[in-house]
This record gives sequence, structure tokens and C-alpha cells, in this order.
Amino acid sequence: MNIETYKSYRGLPTLAGLATIAEAAKPGLSVEAVVARHKRYHYAFVRLHEIFTARITAEPVYELKTGFSHHAYLCAEHVQALRNRVAEMREPPLGLEDVPHEGLGVFFDEILAAPTTEALLVGLYEEALPALDRALERHLADTNPLVDAPSIRLIRFARMELSDMIDFGRQCIECLVADKTHHELSGWITMLRQSLAVAGELDGASPATAEMPTRQFSKKPFVYDRVPRRDERFQDLWNQGVNAESFIYNADLPAKPKVLMMLYKRLREIDVPEMMASIIVETKGKPWEYYRDMSRQLWDEARHAMMGEVGFVALGVDWTTARITHNWSYRLNTECTPIERHAVLYFIEQGLMTKTGKRYEWELGVESGIPLAATFQDYDWADEVLHAQLGRLWYIPQIGEWKEALAYGDKCWTRILSNWHAVRDQGLTKHENWWPLVYQQACAAWNNPPNAQALAFSETYEGQRADLKTVASSG
Ligand SMILES: [Fe+2]
Ligand SMILES: [Fe+2]
Repeated sequence: MNIETYKSYRGLPTLAGLATIAEAAKPGLSVEAVVARHKRYHYAFVRLHEIFTARITAEPVYELKTGFSHHAYLCAEHVQALRNRVAEMREPPLGLEDVPHEGLGVFFDEILAAPTTEALLVGLYEEALPALDRALERHLADTNPLVDAPSIRLIRFARMELSDMIDFGRQCIECLVADKTHHELSGWITMLRQSLAVAGELDGASPATAEMPTRQFSKKPFVYDRVPRRDERFQDLWNQGVNAESFIYNADLPAKPKVLMMLYKRLREIDVPEMMASIIVETKGKPWEYYRDMSRQLWDEARHAMMGEVGFVALGVDWTTARITHNWSYRLNTECTPIERHAVLYFIEQGLMTKTGKRYEWELGVESGIPLAATFQDYDWADEVLHAQLGRLWYIPQIGEWKEALAYGDKCWTRILSNWHAVRDQGLTKHENWWPLVYQQACAAWNNPPNAQALAFSETYEGQRADLKTVASSG
């Protein structure tokens, strides 16, 4: 019997479905070689996570802001999986923080520092992610399918998500990057490819060719921009003319308009990724689990905003009529340190765990008879319970005990005084009451006359903390 004539029992699939005997009889890569490649994939995912996160806040286009929030999280998960795998391979996960090759360092520095959204999209989705995918594809071809099965498994998961990310990026480039702009980037693209070639490609498995190219965009080190920006659909960014929490907690008002106001609050949560990105970028030296968990929460908050978007569209209401403000993220990002921002976030999210928090919002959704609202709030609540746990894990120990940590969050939040008069006096907003227009659109779609009291609502945030002390505005 030999490899050609060997037969499994009654022709059953061989090797637990991993491969044929012939495929598994090729030696493949050594443990050392696989660890070396994993360290490079790991580095690539770490840098991609860094780039996606660092570009969330100042990216104006909402679809990209939420897309980057998603992709940062996916990269964080793949970093974690690779760290776990390296630790299984006779090596403590040492050297994972090193730059595996200077060429790779330059490659990712350049994309991080891309001066325009167009260059960023091209660098990420046409160069970096495909280069990583090629490396993973080559791993599958080079390694032994039996002995390295645990690596193969995580690589297959990674490639599935890389393929989705690349698809998303291609569509964004088609929509946003004109041929002329793309052409103008060709010198830079060549330079990016050279920096990979110097490193023997992303995995280091090719012979190193080319000379180290000169840096272009990363000549000056990248500086994170913590000022949130929005696209032109977001108008009147300082408006505090409609007190959404007062409305939702007013016992005299009916559930349906309250659900509409709640969807507004969801969409307004786009300020949370803008703010959390600044904490992640500006907090160094934590275990990877910290970045993974924070990125998960950031992504959840982006999804909460998208729930608001979907809800508005499903109800036939133009959300751009509402004022999706950036007051909260702007002020936290420009007036607080990262730990103060985290403290405020924890303080707010802790408030959501009470009877009047997320449970109440879900009950409203059920009561309203709008099934979509009930579904959204059900998951929103579950996400927030997770966030409170993550706060206990990562925020509280930085301050001390739970009570102290909560008081510190309260104190930081109190320090941000209301700017209601200041922004009005500076002519930044008139605090216009946008609510009747939004509510009337929904009533028209429902074919219901408006409730007179709900329509006449005109409480503003004047003289109030945006969270009404116990009722959260964000998170
Ligand atoms: Fe949250
Ligand atoms: Fe949220």
C-alpha cells in the first residue's frame, strides 16, 4: 500500500475532512515559519485597527464613519485570534509589539497619514487589505493542512471578513473617488507597493526586492484629529432646542411619538464612536483585550446610530430634518482627557441600567405597537448591559472602587458646563425647535392626526445637563 493506493474505510472522507492524505503528506511550513508569518498578519491587523479607529472622528461621511467603526472592530478580533494562536505555538506571545520589518512600518504609516478620504480609501481597501488577504491565501497554500489546522481555521475566518471589507471598500471607492483623483494617487500607490516589496511582501515569504522608498505622506508623523466632523446632511450641529429625555420621560405623552424621539436619540449616538475613538487612540499601553473590548463597544454604538437611521427611514421620516448634534463628542474630545471621557461614558451608561433606563426604552418600543422599535430596543438594552460590564472591567480599576469611579464620572461631567447660551450668542445655532416637522412627517406616514400635546412640545436643554443627571443622553 502506498499513497496512491491507500483507501479510507469504505471511501469515507479522510483526516476528519481537513484534506486528502496526499495533501497532508507534503511537509509544509515549520512552526517557526508559521509563527513568523503570524506575527506579520498580527502586525497588519493591529495597524489596520489603529488606522480605522484614528480616522472615525474626523471623517465627515456618516457611511464611512460607521464602516470604519465596523472594520476597526473586525480587525481587533483578528488581532486577538492571532495572539492566541501564537501563544499556542511553543512561544509565549513575545515580540508581538515589534515592527516585523521597516517596510511594513512605512506602508501602514503612509496609509494612516493619508491626507484625504480618497487616498485613505484607496490605501486601505485597494492596497492594505488585499495585500493581507494574499498573504493569508499563500499561508493556506504553503502550510500542512493537518498539523497547522488551528491556523487554517482562523485564517479562513479572517479571509471571509477581509473579503467583505474589501467589497465594501471597492463600492465606496466607486462612489467617492473620481478617476482623475485615483490617477493622481498612482505615484503614492507605487511607493506603497515598493515598501511591501522591500519587506518580501506582507508575509515576508517573497524574496525582498526594490529599495526602501522615500516616505511621502508620513514624512511628518500623523497627528490624530479629535474634532468630530459630519457630512452636509447633518445641519445645525450645536442645536439643543429639543430636550429628548424630557419628552421620553413625560408620563402624559403617548408611546408612538416617544418612539420617534427615541429613534432620534439612537441616531444621535453617532457621537459615541467619535468620542470612543479618541479614548482608544489616546490611551496607550493597555492589554490587547482592552482595545478589543473598547472597539466592540464603539461598534455597538455605531450600530445604535444606524438603528436610528433605519427606524426613521422605515417610518417615512427624513432624519436630516432632526438635528443630529455633535455637542457631546466635540466637548468631551476637546475639553477632557481620555480617562475623563471614559469616566463620563461609564457614568452615563451606569445610569442606563436602572428601571428608567434601557428597560423603559424597550417597554416603550413594545407599547408603541411598532415591532421594529421593540426589536431595536431589545438589542440596544442587551448591548448596554455588556457595556456596563466592560466599564467594570476596564474603567473602574483605573480609578479605584465602584463608588469612587462613579463619583469621578459625575464630577467630570459636571465640569462641562452648559454651553446653551454661549453657542447661541456666538451665532452657532438658534436652538430652533425641529420636533414638530419631524413628528408631522411621521403622523402623515401613520395616517394619524398628531397628538396636540406631543406636537406642542418645546422644552429645550437650556440650563440643563444634557443627561438630566440620571437620564442618559448618549451611550
Ligand atoms: Fe453603550
Ligand atoms: Fe448605545
